[in-house]
Amino acid sequence: MLQWEECSSSEIESKPPASLDVVVVNTHVNPDELDDCSVPAQNEVYCGRIAATCALLADASRLLRDGGLLFVYGLPKMLPALAVWLNAHSDEECRLLFKYWIALELKADQSDRSLPHAHLGLLMYLKTKSLRSPTPFALNTKTVRIPYTNCPACGEVTKDWGGKKHLINRLGSAVSDVWSVLDTHIRDAASIPQVCLQRIFDLTRHPGSRMLVIRQEALPDYPVPRGSAAGRSVSRPPSRDDVLHADSLELMREYARKYPDGLFDLAFADPPYNLAKNYNAYTDQQADADYIAWCNEWLGLICEVLRPGGALVVLNIPKWAIYHADFLNFRMEFRNWIVWNALSTPSGKLLPAHYALLYYTKPGGAPTLAYDTVGQIDSREYCLRATCVNRRKESGDDRKELLSDVWHDIHRIKHRRDRDPHPCQLPIRLLQRIIELTTRPGDWVYDPFGGAGTTAIAARISGRRFVISDIDPIYQEIAESNLNRIGELLNGEKILVRKSVRRSSNGIPRREIEMAYISRCKAMGRVLAIEDLKETDTELYERIRQHYRDIKYLRKITRRQLENETLIEHL
Ligand SMILES: C[S@@+](CC[C@H](N)C(=O)[O-])C[C@H]1O[C@@H](n2cnc3c(N)ncnc32)[C@H](O)[C@@H]1O
Repeated sequence: MLQWEECSSSEIESKPPASLDVVVVNTHVNPDELDDCSVPAQNEVYCGRIAATCALLADASRLLRDGGLLFVYGLPKMLPALAVWLNAHSDEECRLLFKYWIALELKADQSDRSLPHAHLGLLMYLKTKSLRSPTPFALNTKTVRIPYTNCPACGEVTKDWGGKKHLINRLGSAVSDVWSVLDTHIRDAASIPQVCLQRIFDLTRHPGSRMLVIRQEALPDYPVPRGSAAGRSVSRPPSRDDVLHADSLELMREYARKYPDGLFDLAFADPPYNLAKNYNAYTDQQADADYIAWCNEWLGLICEVLRPGGALVVLNIPKWAIYHADFLNFRMEFRNWIVWNALSTPSGKLLPAHYALLYYTKPGGAPTLAYDTVGQIDSREYCLRATCVNRRKESGDDRKELLSDVWHDIHRIKHRRDRDPHPCQLPIRLLQRIIELTTRPGDWVYDPFGGAGTTAIAARISGRRFVISDIDPIYQEIAESNLNRIGELLNGEKILVRKSVRRSSNGIPRREIEMAYISRCKAMGRVLAIEDLKETDTELYERIRQHYRDIKYLRKITRRQLENETLIEHL
């Protein structure tokens, strides 16, 4: 027997108001619309459907008591408009307070046209008399846990809490705002999977509590166009890679005036999140309406500086990403709401792990999607501890899975040794993936919130051109110095050499010595003996003698490098 009631949208009129603790609204989900990247501005059916669903949500919220919870299940493209409406909605002196966008990860859709869709959304709102001091509510997060799994390579618990031992509970890991429901295929998820309803029920149940699940009756479908097919127009890029100190809004206004057809192939934006972070030259604490208005201003400008067909990727927490998506849905082609499942500092009731990477393309040109170059990622059964990853890869233990629009394999930067003095630096791998997925070698990338230069570093490593700008001259300096520290590994792969990388026993990074030796050999056009160095580079000679028992290893890797390069030259 079901532990909750169910009804259809036409039956809710008969329900008494303010009588329920939890209401779940299953909005009309047509999984075929996952592929829809049309700009719905002029689409009357789309707008009519949003209006009809908002009316249903108003009725549904009336059924909740003060302190009750409203869950709304739907397509990532539709939910932002509903969320923006719910944020502004008030009813009999009650408001709805946004709590979470829970991403429900389902079995991925395999498609060669686009980044496979692998999640649907579940908004969670609190009904409260006051937004300033919200009515308290409880979730049973101590008893509802996710069973641990162990990494098949190292045997440790797969989720690495980075030393946060207080999160280790014998029942399992804490529930976050990304739920895996991998036994349900996304094309079969027209209504919310039963396991999710059960979890909502378990999380919210208390003696005498009542939960209702409302199924929205079918709404008219609208034709799903297949995106733009126009040719790739020629962009007019700036002449060289650049790290600029500028207010990016002014800079983009200037670009838009100078290049009315747009010029960048990809714009990536990681703005301040209005979370009172400690930046040098920017106050990260604005009134919500001011922050949203400022974001809409730079989003509009970014759309202008992109070439037709160019990609836009915007990173933010779901609370703000819904506003960005609602703004962009009426101007750009929606491709994916990418869920970056990256555990953050524990706070609130569910662990915050869901960062939104909104992926759009500009209408009027052919977009680039190099899915085949990044389509495989490490299997989720492994942990992400660097030592385990390196060890298992060396031994050939390297199972892969398809990349979808839920990214679980990239951690936020956890160790101080891997970051610069910047409060919100992103991992280079994240930017490399975005860049390699949405551009081709030689394409131009722009980042208006450049920070410590992660986008520029990733672009350089991936062979793309870039302009980044930041309002803070100190971050500009940090970004420039990071770019100067990009070095080349033996296999030709470029990396950022940090002082802490592979130190030998007395603190000298071996990689630096290797690179210095290789570049000297390259300059001389042959693999040098240690005695050759004695004459030409005494410092390097001393460092090698100090840190290497013999020079055989250095000679071997250098020979391989020189051979590779000669081979490439002759191709
Ligand atoms: C979240 S951080 C970006 C971090 C960056 N992605 C990285 O990995 O280092 C946001 C950045 O936006 C910058 N910023 C804020 N307002 C700006 C503006 N109007 N123009 C340019 N940069 C701005 C801040 O100084 C800060 O460095």
